[in-house]
Amino acid sequence: MKVPFVDLFAQYERYKQEIDSAMSDVIREASFIGGPHVSSFEKNFSSYVGNEHVIACANGTDSLEILLEIFGVGPGDEVIIPAMSWISTSESIGTKGATPVFVDVDEFYTIDVSQIENKITERTRGIIPVHLYGCAANMPEIMKIAEKHDLFVIEDCAQAHGAEYGGKRIATFGHASSFSFYPGKNLGAYGDAGAMSTDNQEIANTARMIANHGQLKKHTHLMEGRNSRLDGIHAAVLNVKLKYVEEWTEERRRNADLYRKHLQGVPVVVPTEPEGGRHVYHLFVIQVGNREGLSAHLASKGISTAIHYPTPLPFMPCYAGLGHTESEFPRAAAAADRILSLPMYAELSETQIEYVANSIKEFYA
Ligand SMILES: Cc1ncc(COP(=O)(O)O)c(C=O)c1O
Repeated sequence: MKVPFVDLFAQYERYKQEIDSAMSDVIREASFIGGPHVSSFEKNFSSYVGNEHVIACANGTDSLEILLEIFGVGPGDEVIIPAMSWISTSESIGTKGATPVFVDVDEFYTIDVSQIENKITERTRGIIPVHLYGCAANMPEIMKIAEKHDLFVIEDCAQAHGAEYGGKRIATFGHASSFSFYPGKNLGAYGDAGAMSTDNQEIANTARMIANHGQLKKHTHLMEGRNSRLDGIHAAVLNVKLKYVEEWTEERRRNADLYRKHLQGVPVVVPTEPEGGRHVYHLFVIQVGNREGLSAHLASKGISTAIHYPTPLPFMPCYAGLGHTESEFPRAAAAADRILSLPMYAELSETQIEYVANSIKEFYA
C-alpha cells in the first residue's frame, strides 16, 4: 500500500468538473488578475472567517509583511512570536528591519502565553500568534496581554482555516489576520495565494492599497505599494474549494481521532486539543523516539512522512546573531528532535490510517 503525505490529485479528482469549469470561466472571461472571481472569493471568505473585510493578495508571506507595514513596524522595533513556526512569521518582521522576539511553545505547539509578558520591552510593538498545525493559540489571554501593553495582534492563520478557540473562530480575535492558500494548505489554491482579514475599515483600505501599487482607484497612486494581487484562476479554484472546506475539516478531525484510536498503546505522543478548541489538523504531528529509524521504516512500507520543522526559529542560522540557546526554549528544543508529521488529508481512508499505525507499532515491537 502507498500512503502519500498529501494527495492533492485525489482532492482534484473529487471535484474535477466544478474546478475545470471554474478555471475555464476565468480563461473565457480573461479575468486573470483581480476581477469578479477575486471579489466574490473575498466576499465568500469574509463570511467564512467572520471578519468584515478580506483583502486577497499574492501569498501568506506578503500578507504578514503588508500588515506589519500598516502597523508601522520598522528598525528598532520588536515583535513577539512563537519559537516554532514557518520562517515567514519571523522573516516578515526581519525584512521590516525589526527584531523577532521568540517565546517558547506550550503543549499544543502554540505560543506559551505565560511567558509573553517576560519578553515585553519598551521596544515591543506587537504579537503574532501562530495557530500552528491547525491548533488555535490561546487568543483570549493574548488579547488581554496586548490590551494591557498597548500592542497590536496579527494572527498568523496560514495553517488553521476554520480553527476555533472557545467556540470562536480564529482571525476574529486579533486586530488583523493573515492567511496562506499555498496548495497544500487546508484551503489551497493552484499556486501561491494569500489574504488579510480584519474588521477595521482603515486597515482594510490601506492593505488593499499596498497590495495594488498604492491605488484604490486606477492610476491614482496615493502611496507607493507593491504588486501582491490574487490571480483569477486561484480565486476561482478557491471559490469552489471553500464550499467544501468544512466537510474536509470534519474529515481531517475524524482522521485525527482514528490515528489516536489506532495508535493507542504505541510509545508515541499524539497531539491533543485545548479544551473547547477546534483543531483543524493541517498537520498531524506526533513525537517519537528514534525518528530517523521510524521514518525510514515507514518509507520502506510506502508511507511518506515529513518534519515541521526540523529547526526551531531561534536556532536558524539567520538568527545566529541573536545568540539564542536551547535552554531558553526547552519545549521547542526538545520537540525539534522528536516531531514527525504523519500523512493527513480529508481523503485518507481508515484502512490507510490503520496501515500507518500498524507500521509504527511494528517498528517499536
Ligand atoms: C505559519 C505560516 N505562516 C506563514 C506562511 C506563509 O505563507 P505563504 O507560503 O503563502 O507565503 C506559511 C506557509 O507555509 C505558514 O505555514
